[in-house]
Amino acid sequence: LSTREIDKMRRAGHLAAKLLHHLSAMVQPGISTLELNDEAERWTQAHGAKSAPLGYKGFPKSICTSINEVVCHGIPSKKQTLKEGDIINIDVTLIVDGYHGDTSKTFFVGEPSPLARKLVEVTEECRRRGIEAIKPGAKMGDIGAAIQEYAEAEGFSVVRDFVGHGISNVFHTAPQVPHYGEWGKGRKLRPGMVFTIEPMINAGTWEVELQADGWTALTKDRKLSAQCEHTLAVTPDGCEILTPYPED
Ligand code: MF3
Ligand code: CO
Ligand code: CO
Repeated sequence: LSTREIDKMRRAGHLAAKLLHHLSAMVQPGISTLELNDEAERWTQAHGAKSAPLGYKGFPKSICTSINEVVCHGIPSKKQTLKEGDIINIDVTLIVDGYHGDTSKTFFVGEPSPLARKLVEVTEECRRRGIEAIKPGAKMGDIGAAIQEYAEAEGFSVVRDFVGHGISNVFHTAPQVPHYGEWGKGRKLRPGMVFTIEPMINAGTWEVELQADGWTALTKDRKLSAQCEHTLAVTPDGCEILTPYPED
């Protein structure tokens, strides 16, 4: 992308991160995922932006809310309320001035189990290591290799069925960014490339299953899954996180 386009991506990305942080304050036992969704939609409109998921390929809501064994693309629902000990990934994508900012984070509802805490910490470290691998001349496979090596060394698995993606004035575009792979493989990273890294890390098997709603992906063994996501731009000396989370 051009400098001008990356400026727009940065505005969308910063606003998306701010929304994610805003929603994090609502995460507590008893709240429904529909309430999170409705506040997200209200906040987005109040800030002059658009929710990218709403109506995207028929997705019915404004954000994705993925609890415990749900890997991604959980649909907010009035019937689904958060319980003490749950983990929930909230994934927001905003459109500002035609460009997308896509980011997510997994939050604890109350006190997590030791396993849930470790899974979420490892997932964030996976994203960090993936980001660290991004610089001009590095290969796309380096990102996946960095993530997979660490996740598996910690006893977890990397989801194969969903990958990071190019993003711009289009929500999902080339290139694909697998969170598994081999060092030195894949296409060469060049300044101006913009894509997401969004590892989904499972406590058990990497295999996923789609629910009858056609969206909700869950782990085949029903063990926990965590995810976090940033939108990134490759720069001449590394990369810029376009969706910096206020507390990080
Ligand atoms: N935000 C998700 C991603 O990281 C995509 C959600 S698509 C939807 O790519 F249709 F499920 F909203
Ligand atoms: Co994404
Ligand atoms: Co996303």
